[in-house]
Amino acid sequence: MLPPFSCSTALGFKAFLCISIYIYTDGLTGSMGWGDLGVFGEPSKETPNLDQMASEGMLFLDFYTANPLCSPSRAALLTGRLPVRNGFYTTNAHARNAYTPQDIVGGIPDSELLLPELLKKAGYISKIIGKWHLGHRPQFHPLNHGFDEWFGSPNCHFGPFDNRALPNIPLYRDWEMIGRYYEDFKIDLKTGEANLTQIYLQEALDFISKQQASQQPFFLYWAIDATHAPVYASKQFLGSSQRGLYGDAVREIDDSIGKILKHLQKLGISENTFVFFTSDNGAALISAPEQGGSNGRFLCGKQTTFEGGMREPAIAWWPGHIPAGGVSHQLGNVMDLFTTSLSLAGLQPPSDRQIDGINLLPAILQGKLIDRPIFYYRGNEMMAVRVGLYKAHYWTWSNSWEEYSKGIDFCPGQNVSGVTTHTQEEHTTLPLVFHLGRDPGEKYPLSFASNEYQRAMEQISVIVQQHKVTMVPGEPQLNVCDKAVMVSTLPSAWLLPETFTGKAFLLC
Ligand SMILES: *[C@@H]1O[C@H](CO)[C@@H](O)[C@H](O)[C@H]1NC(C)=O
Ligand SMILES: *[C@@H]1O[C@H](CO)[C@@H](O)[C@H](O)[C@H]1NC(C)=O
Repeated sequence: MLPPFSCSTALGFKAFLCISIYIYTDGLTGSMGWGDLGVFGEPSKETPNLDQMASEGMLFLDFYTANPLCSPSRAALLTGRLPVRNGFYTTNAHARNAYTPQDIVGGIPDSELLLPELLKKAGYISKIIGKWHLGHRPQFHPLNHGFDEWFGSPNCHFGPFDNRALPNIPLYRDWEMIGRYYEDFKIDLKTGEANLTQIYLQEALDFISKQQASQQPFFLYWAIDATHAPVYASKQFLGSSQRGLYGDAVREIDDSIGKILKHLQKLGISENTFVFFTSDNGAALISAPEQGGSNGRFLCGKQTTFEGGMREPAIAWWPGHIPAGGVSHQLGNVMDLFTTSLSLAGLQPPSDRQIDGINLLPAILQGKLIDRPIFYYRGNEMMAVRVGLYKAHYWTWSNSWEEYSKGIDFCPGQNVSGVTTHTQEEHTTLPLVFHLGRDPGEKYPLSFASNEYQRAMEQISVIVQQHKVTMVPGEPQLNVCDKAVMVSTLPSAWLLPETFTGKAFLLC
């Protein structure tokens, strides 16, 4: 019997049951960076499953996230649009990053079209497992934005909190809140033990089995967060790494990915399943080494628009379609997964709005290189742009002197004079240009007087000018915090603090 759904791509490829799985690793203060995978040269080779996934699929060396922070990057993945368009930014201060803590008032606007919403038109069932991070008030619930199922949390697993001033972060099964971190879903901060990755793995395997049995195409967004501080691993992985607790968390994620891929093979649907692995921002060097990863040779980390903040490990896997062992230099972005998925499902991206993601299938299946720029934003400011191998910084900033003097350093041990600045430096009339091929660490800006600089900027200026004149920013969603919107089940005698509406900054 033929499965009821088929999909075709713009390339004329036809397959039954085109399904996709996105594996999105996490981080606010400890995400999985480029230097954490054996296949990228991490010396202790502790990611055998991801390395194998790459050897059976395609490794992307020039793949980016849309923002160096978690919430905006997730909003971009699911909308195919830059955070400045979909509203995941703040106008409270110039070039400030922002995210959705549990007292944020905003979230994903109804006017945004999310990938699972669109995939429904092709009969897809979508599930998110893990962290949502696009707002936690009822109107922002993932099941109101196209997902059919959810197991996970609207936020990071920060805590434990005292439940008086601040409740612990809730977890949901679909519409229903089923418990809270630290209370019902334990994380032992002393030992680092938690069973959450195992629970998320089982959820994924069960969902895949169910969809296979009902012959219904699916989209699974597996958004695990064990590598986000406070990092955790289950007992069998504790102490298994040579890199401390962070390494243990990476090992458990790696092991789980191996199990998911084997499950697809066992069910006989691996050739119908497009799987993509990447991360939401670069490793948080402020938490390294115990709670944070490595960005290899790249400059700085999470929060910054240097390569260490936004260049991500990325692997595409689709046996029988993607040539094994491929390596792509295509400039890619998490927003491309939106457009690529629609193409896999035989759908067109919405035409009534600007979509920043491109369809990567020609790059993945035919080895074509598609010309496209990468924009690096912090909040509402375009900080840098990459065109080909050249990257031009229009603004440079790591963090403020005030933060830096408190010991918060996004670029530990990496002071590049005039580049990793602690004041926001404007270079809009004469951007700093780096050649990322010769100088991936962004240490040696090209001389302004050189022909190479002139040639690079001629090309880049046109692209930036066009980007700026056509930019229509969305309504900023991350400006306001209010403790009254926190998800609470406290007895009424335990009143939350009075409603306080404050400006949202980096941390509300
Ligand atoms: C993890 O699960 C095991 C087996 O059910 C249990 O013994 C252990 O207490 C759990 N650990 C945590 C931190 O919840
Ligand atoms: C980085 O180096 C420059 C030049 O040597 C110096 O002026 C600046 O204070 C240094 N920054 C930090 C954070 O040490």
